[in-house]
Amino acid sequence: MPKQLVAPRIRSFICLNAHPGGCAANVDAEIAVATTGAPGTGLRDALVVGASTGYGLSSLVSAIFGYGARGTAVCLERPPQGEKTASAGWYNLAAVERRAREHGRELSVVNGDAFSDEIKRDTLARLARAGTKLDCVVYSLASPKRTDPQTGVSYSSALKPIGAPFRSRSINLGNDQVTPVEIGPASDAEIEATRKVMGGEDFAAWIRALEEAELLAEGCRVVAYSYIGPALTFPIYRSGTIGKAKEDLEATARTLSTALASRLRGAAYVSVNKALVTQASAAIPVVPLYISLLYKVMKEAGTHEGTAQQIARLFRDHLAPGRSPATDEAGRIRIDDLEMEAGVQARVAALWETVTTENLFEVTDYAGFKTDFRRLFGFEIPGVDYATPVETDLPIASVAAAL
Ligand SMILES: NC(=O)c1ccc[n+]([C@@H]2O[C@H](COP(=O)([O-])OP(=O)(O)OC[C@H]3O[C@@H](n4cnc5c(N)ncnc54)[C@H](O)[C@@H]3O)[C@@H](O)[C@H]2O)c1
Repeated sequence: MPKQLVAPRIRSFICLNAHPGGCAANVDAEIAVATTGAPGTGLRDALVVGASTGYGLSSLVSAIFGYGARGTAVCLERPPQGEKTASAGWYNLAAVERRAREHGRELSVVNGDAFSDEIKRDTLARLARAGTKLDCVVYSLASPKRTDPQTGVSYSSALKPIGAPFRSRSINLGNDQVTPVEIGPASDAEIEATRKVMGGEDFAAWIRALEEAELLAEGCRVVAYSYIGPALTFPIYRSGTIGKAKEDLEATARTLSTALASRLRGAAYVSVNKALVTQASAAIPVVPLYISLLYKVMKEAGTHEGTAQQIARLFRDHLAPGRSPATDEAGRIRIDDLEMEAGVQARVAALWETVTTENLFEVTDYAGFKTDFRRLFGFEIPGVDYATPVETDLPIASVAAAL
C-alpha cells in the first residue's frame, strides 16, 4: 500500500478514520505518564478487556510500562483495508506492541467481540499457552450493543432517563450550537437492555471463565470502571439507564470480590473515574457540555487529568502490588475525587446557567473538548507532520500470528 495523507473525517460524535503517526504519538505520551514515578516492575501478567482506547488503553500502558506486566489486550477494532485507515484503537495497539518489543516486554492482542464465548476461549487459550497466571485484570468495555452468548439475543443500550423526561441543554457537535434537548424516559425493555450490555453479566462471565481455567494468580486484583458525576447529569447518567447498568456492574464486583477473596485471597474492585472525552463519552447527550465546563474549571484550578494521569494514579495509590486500595462506603475506589470536589462542582453548576451558543468558547473549554476528541483519532497532535504521507497499512503482529 503506498503511503497516503490522512485528514480527519468527522461526523458529529464519530470520526471515521485515524492517523497512525498521531496515535503512536499519543501512546508515547501515555507511556511517559505511566513510567513517571512508577517502579517499572511489580506485576507479572495483566489482562485488559477493552484495551485499545480510553481508560482501557491507559490501563494496559500502566500495567506494561509502569509495572512491567506481560500484557494481553482484548478489543474490537477495525484493521486497515486498502486505502481505508484502521480505527484509532488498532493503531494504538500497534504502537503499544512496537514499544513493548523495544522495552523487552510482551503484548498479545485479541481482536474480536469480547462478549462472545469464542473470543473468551481464544483469550484463555493464549493465556494458558503462555503458562502464566494473571495478577491483574481490568474490565474497560464500552459498547452500544451485546449479543448474549447464552441465548443469541442481541441487546442495544439506551442513554435515557428513567421515570420522567429529562430537559436540559446539549452541544450539537456537528454545528457547535447549544440547543435544548428533551429525552423521553426509557421503557422497561430499554432499561434491561442497557443492563445486559453495560452491566455486570459479561464482567462476571470473564472472571468466572478465567478462574475455572485456573488462570488467576493468588492475590489477583480485578477492576472494572464506573462513573457517578454530579446532580446536573444524574437524570441522563447515574439515575438513568446507564447508571442502572453501572449499579449492576458494581454489585457484580462485590459478589466477585467475595468469591475471589475466599478462593485466591484476591479481590474485585470498581474504580469510579473522572468524566473525560473518549469515543464512548462523546456519544452521551448533555455530557459533552458538562465535560467542556469541567475542563475549564479543572484546568483553571490546576487539577485536570487525562485518562493516562487518572490510571497512573489508580495504580500508584490503589492497585499497585503492596498497596491497599482506599474505598468509599460502597467499597468503590474514587479517582473522581478531584472532579467531585465541592468547589469545582459549584463553579461548574454556576457556569452551566450562563452558557449560550454565543459564549460557548469563552465560558467553557469546548475548544479543549474538540481538540481532545480529534486527538483520540491521532489528529492535532503537536509534533506530528500531517503534510507528509504515512503508511496506514500497519499490522498488529500478535493478531496476525493468531489467524
Ligand atoms: N469516558 C469517561 O468519561 C468515563 C468515566 C468513568 C468511567 N468510564 C468507564 O470506563 C470504561 C471504558 O470507557 P471509555 O470511555 O474508556 O471507552 P472507549 O470507547 O474509549 O473504550 C472502549 C473499549 O472497549 C472496546 N470494545 C467495545 N466493544 C467491544 C466488544 N464487543 N468486544 C471487544 N472490545 C470492545 C473498544 O475496542 C475499546 O477498547 C467504561 O466502563 C466506561 O463507562 C468512562
